[in-house]
Amino acid sequence: MSTNKTHWENVFATKAETEVSWFQVYPTTSMEFVELFNMPLDANIIDVGGGDSHFVDALLSKGYTNVHVLDISANAIQKAQQRLGENASKVIWIVSDIVDYVPTVKFDFWHDRAAFHFLTNADNVYKYVATAETAINPNGYLILGTFSENGPEKCSGLTIQQYNETSMSARFEVAFNRIKCITENHTTPFNTVQNFLFCSFQKK
Ligand SMILES: C[S@@+](CC[C@H](N)C(=O)[O-])C[C@H]1O[C@@H](n2cnc3c(N)ncnc32)[C@H](O)[C@@H]1O
Repeated sequence: MSTNKTHWENVFATKAETEVSWFQVYPTTSMEFVELFNMPLDANIIDVGGGDSHFVDALLSKGYTNVHVLDISANAIQKAQQRLGENASKVIWIVSDIVDYVPTVKFDFWHDRAAFHFLTNADNVYKYVATAETAINPNGYLILGTFSENGPEKCSGLTIQQYNETSMSARFEVAFNRIKCITENHTTPFNTVQNFLFCSFQKK
């Protein structure tokens, strides 16, 4: 167990989507990576710590047919399912702590926006990296978005691990080649700005 499941269940039970700092109407940067890597519509895609993000909506509307959303919070998954209505049945939903997750399929595209950075001890980071190494197909892609060193030190009231290009690459360099990193300013629903680092990697 890596993080406080109770914390996340409570967040998603008590806050509307526009009351959380990470809310995005449309996940522009994430979709740009999907387009950059020209992912085929039958690619196996997973959004790790997807919560009730609209990334899944964007993927379904483009015609992606093998989308998995994993989150530690059953409430988050339920909110996403309710929003999607009938389309929810097109998605594979997984309620799990990523640290305990044992994948049963291999992925072509692993996406994580603001979940990995909650892993603040070496053992849990090691488990995450090991799972990604096992679960991503050769030549498959890993897209990680975390707060940068110019970003906040906490997210949802929890201490997070900030990354820069070098420290993030160091975590994944054994099994992945780095493709590119970008930083972006995310404007929260409260009009504050959070600096993110997004890095993309390809499995060797
Ligand atoms: C800051 S939110 C980001 C949500 C979503 N990725 C987005 O961009 O809108 C962090 C998400 O990670 C989930 N999460 C936190 N720790 C997790 C863990 N150890 N395993 C799986 N999900 C986790 C939370 O429940 C929450 O949905």
